[in-house]
Amino acid sequence: MFTIRPMVEEDIPSALALWQELPGIGLREADSPPALARYLRRNPGTSFVALNEVGEVIGVSLAGHDGRRGYLHHVAVAEAFRKQGLGRLLVERCAAVLKLEGIEKINLWVKADNAAGLAFWNRVGGRERRDIVTVSIITGDNPNA
Ligand SMILES: CC(C)(COP(=O)(O)OP(=O)(O)OC[C@H]1O[C@@H](n2cnc3c(N)ncnc32)[C@H](O)[C@@H]1OP(=O)(O)O)[C@@H](O)C(=O)NCCC(=O)NCCS
Repeated sequence: MFTIRPMVEEDIPSALALWQELPGIGLREADSPPALARYLRRNPGTSFVALNEVGEVIGVSLAGHDGRRGYLHHVAVAEAFRKQGLGRLLVERCAAVLKLEGIEKINLWVKADNAAGLAFWNRVGGRERRDIVTVSIITGDNPNA
C-alpha cells in the first residue's frame, strides 16, 4: 500500500536519501537542500512523493515548468517497490497538474547509459528524441553546477 501526495520542503532529506543510492540519478549542486527548496517554492504543487504505509518516502518525482515547457527530474522509486506501477503514477500526477497549468509538453533528460530508465520512459508515453542534443552554458565556477 502506498499513498501519493505533493512534495513539500520537509521531504527533501528523504528524497535525497533515496536519490543518493541510485546510479541512474546524477546529483549536482542544483540538488543541495536550499536549491531544491527554491525549486519547490518556484513550482508549488507540481512535484510528488509516494509514501509507504508507515509514511516513509519510497518514490519521488520532481516537476515544474517555465511557463512554456514542463520538466521532470529525478523520478525514482525505491527498489523494493518497483514494477508495481508507482513510477507511472508519479509521472501521471505530475503530468496532470502541469496540464491544468496549460503545459502539454514535458521534457526530461536520461543518462545515456541508463537503459532501464529509458525503457521506463518509453513505457509511460515518453518519446525519445534523436534530433536534439543538450547544450549547457555554465556561468559559475562549478562544471557540475
Ligand atoms: C525508472 C523507475 C522510476 C521505474 O519505477 P517503477 O515504479 O518500477 O515503474 P512502473 O512500475 O510504474 O513501470 C511503468 C512501466 O515501465 C516498465 N518498466 C519499469 N522499469 C523497467 C525496466 N527496468 N525495464 C523495462 N521496463 C520497465 C514497467 O514494466 C511498466 O510497463 P507497463 O506498464 O507497460 O507494464 C525505477 O526503476 C527507478 O527508480 N529507477 C532508478 C532511478 C532512475 O533511473 N530514474 C529515471 C531517471 S531518468
